[in-house]
Amino acid sequence: MMDYSRIRDRVDQVEGYMIPGQEKFLFDKVRSLPEDAVILEIGAFKGRSTVAMGYACVGTNRKIYSVDIWFDFWSEEYPDLCDRNFLSIWEDNICRNGLRDYAIPLRGISHDVLSRWKVLTGGIPVDFAFIDGSHRYPDVLRDFILACGIVKKSGWIALHDVVETWPGPFLMWHDIAKHLLTNREYVTTLACGQKSSPFPSLLPIHFVTEGSMTDPAVRRLAEIYQTLPFLWHWHVGGKGTTIPQLSNVHEDYLLWQMDKDELWTTEQICTACFLFSWYEEKKALSCLSSYLLEDRLKGRLPKRRFVPFRDLERPRLLSKIFSPLFSSHRPRIRKIVARNEGI
Ligand SMILES: C[S@@+](CC[C@H](N)C(=O)[O-])C[C@H]1O[C@@H](n2cnc3c(N)ncnc32)[C@H](O)[C@@H]1O
Repeated sequence: MMDYSRIRDRVDQVEGYMIPGQEKFLFDKVRSLPEDAVILEIGAFKGRSTVAMGYACVGTNRKIYSVDIWFDFWSEEYPDLCDRNFLSIWEDNICRNGLRDYAIPLRGISHDVLSRWKVLTGGIPVDFAFIDGSHRYPDVLRDFILACGIVKKSGWIALHDVVETWPGPFLMWHDIAKHLLTNREYVTTLACGQKSSPFPSLLPIHFVTEGSMTDPAVRRLAEIYQTLPFLWHWHVGGKGTTIPQLSNVHEDYLLWQMDKDELWTTEQICTACFLFSWYEEKKALSCLSSYLLEDRLKGRLPKRRFVPFRDLERPRLLSKIFSPLFSSHRPRIRKIVARNEGI
């Protein structure tokens, strides 16, 4: 059986963004999978990770589906990623290493490609998903959700760049992914875990805000909601009139009273949504946030953390209470309730 040391030099010849040790991890992971395993790679760039995984497919029926836009991404911030159409470079690297039979390019925005997985691949279940595409939090989140949907039970999911300097994958892993995956493994900034059971689906959120859309503070909330990669509704109205309107909603959902002066980040809303949807036993959360210092922290990662909160005296009733603890404020109480439990 081929050992990584025999192919290291060939992998090293491919330009890429892996940290030493990670290529070997990918190679070993793929080699540990069944002979007919399906690998999904999101973010292939010029093929360094593809080649490392591809060598572990040689002589087997394993296949790698590599998803990338292969197009001028991040050009301003990262000029070295700026080659237009680097799909041909990816292809050259794959062919030069004799891996054409093992790697299939799926060009496009990952969310579109994964949403069309059934059409593109016949809905083939995935044994291992390696997520290294867009590093924006909502994109990583969407990649993770979509990948979860097609990875088999006991399959593996890995995230790249789980490091504070990449808040997208970092928060995604620490707030959400690592709690859902077992047998976690880490190689520097690469984090990986095994899907142990099917993931519960996300509940839609109904935000409720007292106010008017002519108020700029209310409209500002819309900008945040636009970034959320899952279903939401927003009820805006005068005092006391909004919650009763929700009696027309006939589905389970999270109700989130969002005051117009609240400054939640996309990441925080997503985390709360995930935790309440996926952990029924979690009746409440507290959130430590220093958002009031946001100006001073501009460009830096806001300090924030979700931790389990205490169960309430009436745990069967409106039991999801959100209590943000601001560094310079007394805690305030928010309510997030499931309709069928509370209203
Ligand atoms: C950090 S690079 C991947 C590095 C690669 N795994 C390696 O071994 O060097 C990120 C890649 O993701 C791709 N990408 C970024 N956003 C994407 C998106 N929304 N959908 C698909 N690919 C995307 C970029 O084109 C880029 O090639």
